[in-house]
Amino acid sequence: MNLNGVQLTWLGHATFRIDTPGGRTIIIDPWIMNNPACPPFEKKLKHVDVLLCTHGHGDHIGDAVEIIKQHNPQVVGIPELCGWLEKKGAKQIAMMNKGGTQKVGDIKVTMVHADHSCGIQDGDQLIYGGEACGYVVEFENGLKIYHAGDTNVFGDMAIIRELYAPEIVMLPIGDHFTMGPREAAYACKLLKPKAVIPMHFGTFPVLTGTPSDFQKLVPGVEVVTMTPGVTAGQLVTTGAELPTAVRGETRGRRQAQERKQA
Ligand code: NI
Ligand code: MN
Repeated sequence: MNLNGVQLTWLGHATFRIDTPGGRTIIIDPWIMNNPACPPFEKKLKHVDVLLCTHGHGDHIGDAVEIIKQHNPQVVGIPELCGWLEKKGAKQIAMMNKGGTQKVGDIKVTMVHADHSCGIQDGDQLIYGGEACGYVVEFENGLKIYHAGDTNVFGDMAIIRELYAPEIVMLPIGDHFTMGPREAAYACKLLKPKAVIPMHFGTFPVLTGTPSDFQKLVPGVEVVTMTPGVTAGQLVTTGAELPTAVRGETRGRRQAQERKQA
């Protein structure tokens, strides 16, 4: 199986842009314009249909309000966080809570647990933002991905595998504020994904976990290290050729992009 037209672009840190086969654009964790890991050519969004927000920390929703003003997307999040975003101008709220699944346009979204905190810094105020969460997203072509948000490893990741069996999982590996490589490797034992995309590393000096440290701990797992701004559009999720296919393609696009920039 491949992504059948789903295009996945890492924008650095925990932020991903997903373009669905139906032509809709989803942003997971809208931290883009102020995200130092996001390449300049990705900072201007053409169009956003859906925002999925894992929690209220600035490195996840730092540009949500601006993006909502510009694009009026549907906003998915836990009620307390959605309530805050509504006060800031969000018009299309699709709030939900853990264990729930809803259809948002052409995707099915399930909110799952994350083991993390969730305050919203609003000027000099720290506001209660509900709880941190992760998302399992099912696309119209049947592909399932799991974005873990910021989290420690937790035993109920085994339930996420049993109930939803996501093929591709995005796991934080940077350590300090989330799992490091050791915990993320344990998460792989519970989730048994076909491919893991490491995230939430390298953005700040304290995020010391690296994909190579992580890969050493999970020798049997396909670790797909993405480059911010590079789109994986034909992820093959079965067979041993996955990393080659992804890396080959992303390298090609990167080169094309660099030629365009030059
Ligand atoms: Ni956080
Ligand atoms: Mn974070």
